[in-house]
Amino acid sequence: MHDDCILTLSGVHTHIGQYHILQGVDLRVPRGGLSVLLGRNGAGKTTTLRTIMGMWRASAGRIVFDGQDISAMATADIARAGIAYVPESMAVFSALTVRENLLLAARNGPLEQARVDWICDFFPALKKFWDVAAGNLSGGQKQMVAIGRALVEPRKLLLVDEPTKGLAPAIVDSLIAAFAELKAQDTTILLVEQNFSMVRALGDTVSVMDDGRVAHAGSMAALVADASLQQRLLGLSLEAHQ
Ligand SMILES: Nc1ncnc2c1ncn2[C@@H]1O[C@H](COP(=O)(O)OP(=O)(O)OP(=O)(O)O)[C@@H](O)[C@H]1O
Ligand SMILES: [Mg+2]
Repeated sequence: MHDDCILTLSGVHTHIGQYHILQGVDLRVPRGGLSVLLGRNGAGKTTTLRTIMGMWRASAGRIVFDGQDISAMATADIARAGIAYVPESMAVFSALTVRENLLLAARNGPLEQARVDWICDFFPALKKFWDVAAGNLSGGQKQMVAIGRALVEPRKLLLVDEPTKGLAPAIVDSLIAAFAELKAQDTTILLVEQNFSMVRALGDTVSVMDDGRVAHAGSMAALVADASLQQRLLGLSLEAHQ
C-alpha cells in the first residue's frame, strides 16, 4: 500500500489476563499522513494503541517504529523515541494547573512560548484557564488539555484515541484544523475515531478493526468513493456491541 511506513505492526497478539484480545493485528501507518483506525466498540482499537505504547506487552508479533523494533521496549523509551499518546479518558493531572499539565509533558525543559501560543490559538479555553487546576475544567476542556499535552513538543507520531468524544462541534472543528496543520508540518497521526463523517475528509489511509484484527486496510479516498464498501465497513464499525 505504501512503502515508507513510520509504524508497522505485524501479526501482533495481546493477552490481557486470561483474555486473548488482539489476534494478529497487521497495521501500517504511512509516514507524514493521517491514518484512521475505525471499528465498533470492543474491536481492539484502544488495546492496539496501548500495545504500541508498551502499556500492554505483545505476546507475539512485531512492532517497528521508524526502523526500530519497539515490541519489547519500556513505555518511557517508546515515548522518548518520538511517539505521543492521547488516551481515550482525558489524561490530565486534576490538582495541577493547565500550565503545569503542559509543563510536565515537555521533556526538554521549559515551554516554548511560540508553541504554547499556537496550541492556545486552537484551544482558547487553555489560555483562559491557564492557571486553574485542570480538575475544575469541563470534560471537553480536559480533553483539550490532554491534546495540548501531546502537542507541547513536536513528535514523530501522535496516537489519539477518540478525541472528539464529548466535545462541542466548534471545538471539533478546531481539532480537525489542528490535525490538518500538524499533518502539513509532517507529524504522522494515527487517529482512532468512530465518527466517519469527521475523518473522511481528514484521513489518508484507513484501517477497520473487528474482533481483534484489522479487517480492512486501504486509502480513505477509495473508501469514500465506494459506497458498498462503506456500507459494509461502516455496518461493521457501527454495529451494536454484543
Ligand atoms: N483491562 C482489561 N481487562 C479485560 N479485558 C479488557 C481490558 N481492556 C479491554 N478489554 C477487552 O478487550 C476488548 C477490546 O477492547 P478495546 O478497549 O481495545 O476496544 P475499543 O475498540 O477501543 O472499543 P471502544 O470503541 O469501546 O473504545 C474488549 O472486549 C474489552 O472488553
Ligand atoms: Mg477504545
